[in-house]
This record gives sequence, C-alpha cells and structure tokens, in this order.
Amino acid sequence: MSDTILLERRGRVALITLNRPEALNALNEAMMNEVVDAARELDRDPSVGAIIITGSARAFAAGADIKEMAGQSYLDMYAADWFARWSELARVRTPLIAAVAGYALGGGCELAMLCDFILAADTAKFGQPEMKLGVIPGIGGSQRLSRALGKAKAMEMILTGRTMDAAEAEQSGLVARVIPADQLLEEAFATATTIASRSLPVAMLAKECVNAAFETTLTEGVHFERRLFHSLFATQDQKEGMAAFIEKRDPRFTHK
Ligand code: HXC
Repeated sequence: MSDTILLERRGRVALITLNRPEALNALNEAMMNEVVDAARELDRDPSVGAIIITGSARAFAAGADIKEMAGQSYLDMYAADWFARWSELARVRTPLIAAVAGYALGGGCELAMLCDFILAADTAKFGQPEMKLGVIPGIGGSQRLSRALGKAKAMEMILTGRTMDAAEAEQSGLVARVIPADQLLEEAFATATTIASRSLPVAMLAKECVNAAFETTLTEGVHFERRLFHSLFATQDQKEGMAAFIEKRDPRFTHK
C-alpha cells in the first residue's frame, strides 16, 4: 500500500495521484520512490497504454520537501545522490501525461516536465523558485525549462524565481493545452484514452523519435526517425491501421 500516492485504472489508462495534501504534495523521498516504482511497474504492464500523473486542485506539487532537505550536508546529498531516481521517469516508455492544477513549483515543475507533455488547468502556476532558498533546480529544471521555453524566459524564471500562469505557459510552449480546472481530469483521461487506443509499441517508438530531437543533430534525428518508420512495417498494427483506413472502418490494434 502506498502512503503518498493513489492509484486508479480506467480501461487502458492508469492515474497516479500525488497525495500529501497537508504539504501541498511536497516531493519527499517516500513519494519519489512510490511514484517511480508505480510508473515503472505500470510501464511493464502491456495492458496500460497511457499514464497520467496529477496532484490536487491546490497543488500539483509545491516542490521538493524543504523540511526533509534543509538539514542535509553536501555529503548526505552526494552520497545518496539525492533526487537521482526521478530521472527514471524519463526512461518510462509508456506515454506519460502530467495533469497540473495549482502550484507546480521547483521539483513540482520539474516532475511535470519529466512527463511527455503537460495539460494545465487554468489555475496552474509554474515556477523554479529554488534561488529563493539558496539553491538551484536539482531535478533537471535548468535543462528542461531551457529546452521548453528558450534561454531568455528560462533564465528569467530561474534567476528571479517568479511564477508563470497557465496562459503564459501555453504561449511559451511549456504546456500542450490549458483546460478549465473543473474539467482537467476528464480531459486528461480523454486524451490518455485516445493515446491508449492506438498501438502501444508504435507510441513508444514515436516517443523515442521526439525525445531524440532533444539529444541529437537534425540529420541524425531524421535518419533515426526514418529507420524506425521503416521498422514499423514489420508490425501487425501497421497492416491493421492501413487496412482499416482503406476499408473505411476503425482499426483494432493488437499492440503487435
Ligand atoms: C515542504 C511544504 C512545501 C515544500 C509547502 N509546504 N511547500 N513543505 N516542502 N516545498 C507546506 C508548508 O510548510 C505548509 O505546512 C503547507 O505545505 C501549506 O503551505 P503554505 O505555505 O501554508 O501555503 P500557502 O500560503 O498557500 O503558500 C503556497 C506556496 C508556499 C506559495 C506554494 O507553500 C511555498 O512557497 N512553498 C515552497 C515552494 C518552493 O520553494 N518550492 C521549491 C522547493 S525546492 P505547515 O505544516 O506549515 O502548515 C525544490 C528544489 C528541487 O523543489 C531541487 C533542487 C534543490
């Protein structure tokens, strides 16, 4: 049983809800382990075609747990490689969606950015306020925010620690879509259900291609994409998807 998260299944979609409301879902070590363990287990389950991570109406997560970190020494942080496990989420192959309402600050913003894309409620507030605490982002924020927003906005956000509202986050490319807060979860399920109705291995390969765009040159990335594209002609789902189009019916993907 989990202490810091709730798990729910609806068809092929799994929902992980961060559940430390008393601390605005501050990300402590227990929560890191439970979120990462849950995501990895769901990733191994072929009956799961998409995973949503969400928080509460007030906070997706208000950052790493400051009370847990405050007294640590350099060697404590280094020896435990504090926060390292969060990077395992970047290796989850099943599509991973962050559904963000309220505060997504510090580690909360970084957790949202570790997902494949962010759906934001109109109440969402993003920020990297670590400088106010005498530290810098530590779960990839300086790297992922810069890639998402470009240098000027990422620098300004990180150096000032200001928050960005949902509208600015959408304009800046940090979030895929803004949704009225009371519809966030239903819309996230609808989006996840659409993704999960498609071929899971094809979705995994599509993720690899998009992620390659942030790791490699254009020429290498296009080459990688074309090779993976060719490989899909060895799948039953390519045959089914194209046959269904020609026969004017819905495809029945078997994830093979
Ligand atoms: C531990 C936290 C917390 C956090 C909130 N709480 N954020 N506890 N770590 N990151 C706790 C508060 O102590 C309080 O508990 C309860 O949650 C409610 O919070 P309030 O502050 O009373 O609520 P409110 O006045 O509405 O303000 C909301 C807030 C504020 C603006 C989000 O809580 C805030 O600024 N939080 C910290 C945000 C932040 O700095 N995040 C970055 C963390 S560093 P009690 O028991 O007092 O009622 C980080 C770094 C990652 O993420 C890697 C690099 C180090």
